[in-house]
Amino acid sequence: MLKCASFFAGVGGIDKGFEKNDLFNVIYANEIDKYPVKTYELNSEIKVDCRDIHDIKEDEIPDFDVMLAGFPCQAFSIAGYRKGFEDEKGRGTLFFELIRIIKAKRPQIVFLENVKNLVGHDDGNTFRVIMEALEENGYFVKSKVLNAMEYGNIPQNRERIYIVCFRDENACQRFQFPDAIPLDKKLSDIIDFNNLLDEKYYYTEGKYKGDIFEKLSEAMDDDDSVYQWRRKYVRKNKSGVVPTLTANQGEGGHNVCLIKTKYGIRKMTPHECFNTQGFPQDFLLPDDVSDARLYKQAGNSVCVSVIERIADAIADAYLNMEN
Ligand SMILES: C[S@@+](CC[C@H](N)C(=O)[O-])C[C@H]1O[C@@H](n2cnc3c(N)ncnc32)[C@H](O)[C@@H]1O
Repeated sequence: MLKCASFFAGVGGIDKGFEKNDLFNVIYANEIDKYPVKTYELNSEIKVDCRDIHDIKEDEIPDFDVMLAGFPCQAFSIAGYRKGFEDEKGRGTLFFELIRIIKAKRPQIVFLENVKNLVGHDDGNTFRVIMEALEENGYFVKSKVLNAMEYGNIPQNRERIYIVCFRDENACQRFQFPDAIPLDKKLSDIIDFNNLLDEKYYYTEGKYKGDIFEKLSEAMDDDDSVYQWRRKYVRKNKSGVVPTLTANQGEGGHNVCLIKTKYGIRKMTPHECFNTQGFPQDFLLPDDVSDARLYKQAGNSVCVSVIERIADAIADAYLNMEN
């Protein structure tokens, strides 16, 4: 079994995807925000280390074989950082905190996840600096952008970059990202169109200021589509899947995913958002955390079923290396 340490762990989506494979066992997780930590701990035996990653000394982390990290896509100044700059507080950019830990722990495998735009950021410099830092530290690297609706059998249009690094060159050569698979999961498998839910999720006449309800009623003509309220207008997702869940969804009503059911127009619930990220049906959400925080946690997380498939491919490459 390989010991995994998870950084920027959020609610543990990456961890759940890896742990589905018997080869991987998460032994340590770090996350600074106490709200996702509540969700994480409700679904795991791990007690999350809630410190700022900058404050964690390498020898305070137990030894591990696999690093897991969906690091924040903060406005990277990574290219600058490499030339000697630090952030305004004089501390390292978050990605370089991972490199600091990698240097000390030298894990066999490093798995990173980020937004697709990481590749194009700063004319490709950010991505180049990240690749160089990994290679200079002895890793062989493969990366690919995968869409959840093509690779995770989940009806969500979510493109993310996955970076897989091995210390062993042969293992890296053997590693192949999973192939695309048919999408047979339907919106009705992740969204409850049939039952009456809590009244707080519904839009009714007069409930909200202005003419939102009228605009929604007019635009939402289809009961098998997901719509989004974009501050002033309603957008229909034409491909019949859920649009990319975002961390700011729900803030001020913006970006929130809307559906039409026989009981009226309503927001997707936090549970439905976690379903849309491929979390297992029995994944628990704390009942003393607001919906706004839960929407943020779901949007910040990953598509677990995509992670599972990549973790299986990593396990295959690693196990073959041992034979
Ligand atoms: C993109 S999210 C990762 C979510 C995770 N992959 C999941 O499945 O939920 C990045 C996370 O990094 C955390 N974070 C940001 N700055 C941090 C820091 N300085 N130390 C530790 N965690 C931090 C954020 O609170 C956030 O939950």
